[in-house]
Amino acid sequence: MEIYKMKDYEDVSKKAASFIIKDLILKPNLILGLATGSSPLGLYRNLIEAYEDDIISFKDVMTFNLDEYIGIPRDHPQSYFSFMHEHLFRHIDIDEANINIPNNDLDQLDKLAMEYDERLFGHQRDIQILGIGSNGHIGFNEPGTPLGNETFVVELNDQTRRDNARFFGSFDDVPKYAITMGIKNIMYSKKIVLIASGKHKAEAVYKMVYGDIDKQVPASILQLHPDCRVVVDEAAASLLRMDGNYKNF
Ligand code: GLP
Repeated sequence: MEIYKMKDYEDVSKKAASFIIKDLILKPNLILGLATGSSPLGLYRNLIEAYEDDIISFKDVMTFNLDEYIGIPRDHPQSYFSFMHEHLFRHIDIDEANINIPNNDLDQLDKLAMEYDERLFGHQRDIQILGIGSNGHIGFNEPGTPLGNETFVVELNDQTRRDNARFFGSFDDVPKYAITMGIKNIMYSKKIVLIASGKHKAEAVYKMVYGDIDKQVPASILQLHPDCRVVVDEAAASLLRMDGNYKNF
């Protein structure tokens, strides 16, 4: 793991975007793993700017999103399908056919999870973007889920639903289930760029970097990934010591 400690969220977003922009210039048909939540919003803004400035194009890029809620339609404003279109896809030249987001159709979830897996294993991600939940989850791999999982249906835990209630208006409106890439899918990526900012992420970041590899902290598995960059602001890095693979910007 390489830790990039940046001053604030703006610098976190710029640094994370710089990794993607560089690789996209070198490989226009990049396969990108994408995340939702507030953490990658600044990164997406930077990518849109680079596209508008003619530095990069997404014409040949293929994307795979980590997860999707179950129980709300794709056109619900808080679905991850809507989120991605609102905050990235509608601003860039990506081909809609190259966008992959787990389908949450209730009647055929098992089949859809298997199909998503097949596509994921056929298209290794060049870069996977990740956020981290305050309980150490990545994607929607909640504490306690087996680290060898492939795409699966998960029951969201209360902390995750409380954290995400701000998007839905109330805790009760937050869906109880989601479909998510498993840890195995996430690890099957050449590079990982994880973004975290804010004091409320400090403990999860600390456990991810220095804790035991433990299914109670799913992000801790990333210690085993050969190219995982953790880009954090000062608040999220506040419990980290200044040693190891540590870059202070
Ligand atoms: C959600 C998503 C995760 C995301 C996490 C953190 O539960 N499924 O992919 O990393 O929340 O979200 P935020 O960046 O808003 O703190």
